[in-house]
Amino acid sequence: MEKQIVLLPGDGIGTEVIKSAKKVLEAIAEEYHHTFTFTVHAIGGSAIDSNGDPLPPSTVEACKKADAILLGAVGGPKWDQNPSHLRPEKGLLGIRKALDLYANLRPVKAFEKLLHASPLKADRVQGSDLLIVRELTGGLYFGTPSERRDDGKSVVDTLAYTRTEIERIVDKAFQCAQGRKKHLTSVDKANVLESSKLWREVVEQKKADYPEVEVEHLLVDAAAMKLITNPTHFDVIVTENMFGDIISDEASVLTGSLGMLPSASLREDGVGLYEPVHGSAPDIAGQGVANPIGMILSAAMMLRHSFSLNEEAEAIENAVQSVLDNGYHTPDLRMHNGQKAGTKEMTDLIVDHI
Ligand code: NAI
Ligand code: MG
Repeated sequence: MEKQIVLLPGDGIGTEVIKSAKKVLEAIAEEYHHTFTFTVHAIGGSAIDSNGDPLPPSTVEACKKADAILLGAVGGPKWDQNPSHLRPEKGLLGIRKALDLYANLRPVKAFEKLLHASPLKADRVQGSDLLIVRELTGGLYFGTPSERRDDGKSVVDTLAYTRTEIERIVDKAFQCAQGRKKHLTSVDKANVLESSKLWREVVEQKKADYPEVEVEHLLVDAAAMKLITNPTHFDVIVTENMFGDIISDEASVLTGSLGMLPSASLREDGVGLYEPVHGSAPDIAGQGVANPIGMILSAAMMLRHSFSLNEEAEAIENAVQSVLDNGYHTPDLRMHNGQKAGTKEMTDLIVDHI
């Protein structure tokens, strides 16, 4: 199989972990006789520095032509004081919107070997295996108006959704649940928000199309608590953009580190952008200690969702599992025993297993 992959390293540890994903994909290409061609394009803070634009048109063009896209992370203190149109995050939100990547899949799995890396009790975390399906191109992060008013004395943000936008993400979540343990939790704030009331209505309607899937509704505050007190309760969670952003960072606690979580952002036709859930981690950037697993598992998701290379995806996931089982981990996983490894060492160990 021949595929064109665009790499968007971005900033901070994004530039470090994307090298790991590339190495792993090169190993897969060799082992399974595929040809992956990589081209690198600018996004985020580094694109502001090089092109004066967090999302240069050439990057959007390249992404539109690519078979799939891998992104590291964007942002950093260097650009924090920039005006809002010159913020690295504009690049990220912009590419999601430009490609209409409305479905963000964030699997969260507690690896047996890392149970004690979580600050939660191991017996609570054990067996956690859930999928957060986050709406990615609507809601509070994209609503207008979003501005300061009255000389800065008041502000407004807007949470807007159309029925169609809700329907397509809910549909996606039902499909995911169908292929897993057939349990769907819809998370909203329907006791307060009008948008959540419509969200609930849509979920109730869609239920009829997926009779095998058991459905429940949870308010987001209760869901936040249950995610920590009873994480194994969950199979698939579907929720709007901001709620999904927050509860997925929360869910990362189950795995021991934010650096463990991969994600896929998909369009209706399967075009996808794959990135770790974490940010550019300026506090550890340049030290060679970033956990590459979230990024590497994102590459596995790419193989599965965009290229239907399931065996290859599993080969990566099994390699990650084996390296962890052998006791290796990056320093963000706070464990008393095992072998500490840096980004490069961890990557090489995973490549060896492939
Ligand atoms: P962050 O996710 O970059 O870091 C949070 C904490 O987790 C830090 O202590 C960091 O060292 C640690 N961490 C994250 N990923 C790690 C990894 N792979 N290995 C080891 N440790 C890891 O979030 P933070 O600090 O709030 O934001 C930093 C910058 O990243 C900001 O500019 C923010 O806007 C941006 N950001 C970008 C995202 C993206 O590109 N998708 C997502 C979240 C934040
Ligand atoms: Mg986030």
